[in-house]
Amino acid sequence: MATDHAGTRLGFHSIDEELDTELAVEGEVPGWLSGALIRNGPGSFDLADGAVGHWFDGLAMLRKFTFEDGRVRYRNRFLRTEAYADAERGEYRGGFGTDGSLSRLEKAAALLTPPSPTDNTNIDVWRFGGEYAALTETEHLTLFDPETLETTGLTTYLGEPYGQHVTGHPHHDDERGVTVGLSTYFGRQPEYRLWRQHDGRWSRESLATLPADEPAYLHSFALTDRYAVVVEFPLVVSPLRLLRPSNEAFIKRFDWDPERGTRYRVVDRETGVEVASPVGESFFCFHHVNTYDDGEELVLDMVTFPDAAAITELYFDGVGGPSSWELEGGRLTRARLDPRAGTVETHEVHGGHLGLPRVSPAVTASEYRYAYAQGDPGQPVTGLPESVLKVDVETGEDQWYDAGGYTSEAVFVPRPDGDREDDGVVLAVVLDADTERSELHVVDGASMTRLAVAPLPHALPLDFHGQFLPEVR
Ligand SMILES: [Fe+2]
Repeated sequence: MATDHAGTRLGFHSIDEELDTELAVEGEVPGWLSGALIRNGPGSFDLADGAVGHWFDGLAMLRKFTFEDGRVRYRNRFLRTEAYADAERGEYRGGFGTDGSLSRLEKAAALLTPPSPTDNTNIDVWRFGGEYAALTETEHLTLFDPETLETTGLTTYLGEPYGQHVTGHPHHDDERGVTVGLSTYFGRQPEYRLWRQHDGRWSRESLATLPADEPAYLHSFALTDRYAVVVEFPLVVSPLRLLRPSNEAFIKRFDWDPERGTRYRVVDRETGVEVASPVGESFFCFHHVNTYDDGEELVLDMVTFPDAAAITELYFDGVGGPSSWELEGGRLTRARLDPRAGTVETHEVHGGHLGLPRVSPAVTASEYRYAYAQGDPGQPVTGLPESVLKVDVETGEDQWYDAGGYTSEAVFVPRPDGDREDDGVVLAVVLDADTERSELHVVDGASMTRLAVAPLPHALPLDFHGQFLPEVR
């Protein structure tokens, strides 16, 4: 059964306690699972002067699950950002979907000195060489100690800023030892700017610059061995509208313009040249699933929505979460691109309802078979997703794990000596509205059956993304 309204409200409640405790485990966590899952997302939506207006604007809090010899330890900690300090003082200035509170005088001052973009780094965590950072959609990074989750530094991507917006989903190219990221520069001549940062070298260099008259809201992009692909969905903004000081939240200034179609801007990674830009059918997408080179062509999988309601449905109605959650889940859509012919063809691999897709890290940017995602098979989506879906991207067949409560993003961890792609476990944080607690679920990646559950002492607000870090204890 889909989570009722009380369950939805629980997913958007605020917590203030910070815990460090061993969890009781029901079932058996595989002994080979060693390392830590660190997840990021809002911990609090209540600010000193009110509540935020959108899920994406809750204050960043890390949650960590450490696995060793079948045991699970839990820890949570807020990031001590400037946004956190501002919220404590009642001076939070808005962010992604929350309107700001600038007076007319402050707006005039902002024309001369634009306010610093938010450092509420609540989207994901990333390892840059030996440093661990929390990410958001600005140039800000929050460094933290992966053992204690303590905030160790407030910084930015080094070098000149590449733009006012940065996707919270960079890629790591293990072979070349680089992180590749995408920024959007909103000036009089707006551009998408792809950059790379070499492991251990705390600086960036340009990979490519693409002109963008009316830039799109880009939450992620695609990377293969040969290409970077900026998929320009038709949720676009006039740059002047974005640069004018206003209390209107960042994302509210974008317009849905389906007549434009979806443009696939394919960049050769070696030369930085845009080699093709075919246009296909309109849809919106937060998350790419996986992309790979297939001979001279590219296969690009995305979780797509028919329009941008995926964003607008998540505004809060005052305090306590979105007014409804009648969000149509995403579909798994495959695009096949031929850069030489300049063509794109799309087809639906799975009809949904999917969210927050992941694949095994062993198959990133390679031909692959399985995607894992939040989902609710066969149900009208009027509540939060309560299952983990495994989709065979070749056949479209699915298997699912019924979690019995809201499921977070499902992170697949491969067994170190496994020989099948799905040999491993899926880790998901599940919110149980009946017990008012969250639970960590450990699910077998092949059979999609439960291996273990570890209940937490409290209920966690809904989060976004996390990474499994085998080296962290
Ligand atoms: Fe995301």
